[in-house]
Amino acid sequence: MVLLNPGPVNVSDRVRQALMRPDICHRESEFSELLADIRRKLLTAFVPGGEEDYTAIVLTGSGTAAVEAAVRSSMPTGKRAMVINNGVYGQRMSSMLWTRRLAIPDLKFAWGTAPDLTKVELALKQHPEVHTVMVVHHETTLGFINPVEDIADIVDRFGRVTLVDSVSGLGGESLDIGGAKLYMVAGAAQKCIQGFPGAAFVLVRKGFMERVMKYPKHSWYLNLANYYEDQERGSIPFTPAVQVYYGFREALDELLEEGVQARIQRFAGYAKKIREALESWGIKPVLSPDMRSNTLTAFQLPEGLTYPRLHDQLKERGYVIYAGQGQLESQIFRVGNIGALTDKNIEGFIAAFQDTLKQTTGNG
Ligand SMILES: Cc1ncc(COP(=O)(O)O)c(C=O)c1O
Repeated sequence: MVLLNPGPVNVSDRVRQALMRPDICHRESEFSELLADIRRKLLTAFVPGGEEDYTAIVLTGSGTAAVEAAVRSSMPTGKRAMVINNGVYGQRMSSMLWTRRLAIPDLKFAWGTAPDLTKVELALKQHPEVHTVMVVHHETTLGFINPVEDIADIVDRFGRVTLVDSVSGLGGESLDIGGAKLYMVAGAAQKCIQGFPGAAFVLVRKGFMERVMKYPKHSWYLNLANYYEDQERGSIPFTPAVQVYYGFREALDELLEEGVQARIQRFAGYAKKIREALESWGIKPVLSPDMRSNTLTAFQLPEGLTYPRLHDQLKERGYVIYAGQGQLESQIFRVGNIGALTDKNIEGFIAAFQDTLKQTTGNG
């Protein structure tokens, strides 16, 4: 089955084979080496040239665990957060602020529209109590890129902290973490990195990590200070998904061999092919080209075709697509193009889509 949902993705045989490595105990030196390797490779991949200034904290869980650990660990006493909310995952970060007393009202923008940077600046001027500004890099809701670096530039001028959910971004979209001085960036193994679900991570500026160690612990399991302290000693506070970490390391090796920029270009090429084909049959992308990511496209459902029918027809032909979320559930469908895919997979999908369209609407 070819997965064209935005993760978990198809992995390579090499990554799958990594699951077969010997059983190890997470309190033994073999695991310490595995963990150190993953942490180092995350920095090499995502903070090239800035490895000395950042640390990678690895945890077991899905992307949400990493985002929530970052959110819960980033708040000093008496300070507040501001969420830039223009999609499902911005909303999720907002919901993670476990009491609204910790946040000023979200800076809300319509789904698929870029945040107004003058409003970000104004809010920071008006709210000196805001310590952390939280934003999603690639909003998977519709597949759009938020201008994280521009936002971080403003936040940095005000001496505040930028926290980024890049769970579906890292490895598929460019992000200059070191250059933009991002304080915390959350990611996960099972999307553009092409690993298995179950391993996630937060990249943290080292200077900030020292501050985080002194912040109140708002969670026990999802507190980055606990993880950092242990990981610096080669250990981990809780039982990790050891076999998944083997796959994670292999996926990072593959990513580094392919090159992050080359991977981004590969995904961008897939997206272009899918968009050109579907648009030629009159199927409209939801977003204007300047907003679209490299890794996912939201399309309007063709007239007379429901999502369940489209999904089932494509699945019968070997391809899994993804539904819309929230208020757009019955109007759109999404096609991801990440994972260990090939040109042949993409061409196969396009042919299957055309076939489906002909059968269901007589079009295509
Ligand atoms: C931007 C973004 N953040 C967070 C998540 C949550 O990730 P997970 O489902 O791995 O918890 C997703 C999942 O699609 C996502 O796209």
